Amino acid sequence: MLGPNGAGKTTTVEILECLRQLTSGEVRVLGMDVNKEANKIKRRIGVLPQDFNAFDLLTVKENIEFFGGMYDRSLDPDELIDAVDLREKRDEYFKNLSGGLKQRVGVAISMVNDPDIVFLDEPTTGLDPKARRDVWGVIQSLREKGKTVILTTHYMEEAEVLSDRVGIIDHGRFIAFGTPREIVEKHGTGSRCIISNCDERCLTALRGQWPSAEKNNGEIVIRLESKNSLPEIIYTLDRSGGNYEQIQVTRPTLEDVFLSLTGKKLMSEEVEPTGKKRKKRKKGAK
Ligand SMILES: Nc1ncnc2c1ncn2[C@@H]1O[C@H](COP(=O)(O)OP(=O)(O)OP(=O)(O)O)[C@@H](O)[C@H]1O
Ligand SMILES: [Mg+2]
Repeated sequence: MLGPNGAGKTTTVEILECLRQLTSGEVRVLGMDVNKEANKIKRRIGVLPQDFNAFDLLTVKENIEFFGGMYDRSLDPDELIDAVDLREKRDEYFKNLSGGLKQRVGVAISMVNDPDIVFLDEPTTGLDPKARRDVWGVIQSLREKGKTVILTTHYMEEAEVLSDRVGIIDHGRFIAFGTPREIVEKHGTGSRCIISNCDERCLTALRGQWPSAEKNNGEIVIRLESKNSLPEIIYTLDRSGGNYEQIQVTRPTLEDVFLSLTGKKLMSEEVEPTGKKRKKRKKGAK
């Protein structure tokens, strides 16, 4: 589930996890009604909540054992520690782990009852790119084990890399659903050609042929309407006798789709009192 802050991701997964009452409609998980069979569902799902925290003064292994003790049946803690690649930190206090390692403990805990479905609510928010990729590796291994993973994120790249199917959510509603490729094909606006550092001659020639071409920071961006467009652009540039630095062709991304469907960016920006823009961060993000 891909969506910006406040889209309704946590609300939706908490209903699926039987942690929040639904106000209308019907929700079934693994064929069971969340209103009637919550306890049965809970035995078969695993949950990594947003802003997950474990016990600071228990070690990694002790935390996993503690949560395992809540179920009739639980997996071997050492196996789970291996699965999330935390062998070296097995006897470390939870409070001494970095953010990325803490999230990996959270994934191990979400697996402790060997669930059929694992819900991960923003497992990588606030992590640096390396820690984020390490958590991705752990999530991919869940998928390889045949688990269904329901992951919420506001990182477009994360959805593209990890998902078989993506649901884009905004204002509590799904606005697009399918594989990343299907979504882009259905809602995308076609590939774009970006020509950087155009001089005046190139610029005039391109503008003459493609009057709607956008100009951003010295780059010209032209939507490729047909297969012939790219050779035409190259021919036009060549004939102009001018200079440019490079030509790049990009496919539309989920971010572009989100922008075209909602008119806003996924990672919304907010302006601080100083007037400096910063990325909007979630509460609890480190
Ligand atoms: N379908 C819905 N209809 C009406 N209100 C909703 C719906 N889904 C969520 N909300 C409300 O929107 C607010 C934000 O929802 P929620 O915390 O689920 O968003 P989120 O996508 O998880 O955001 P974040 O990325 O910040 O974690 C909450 O007040 C919630 O009650
Ligand atoms: Mg949330």
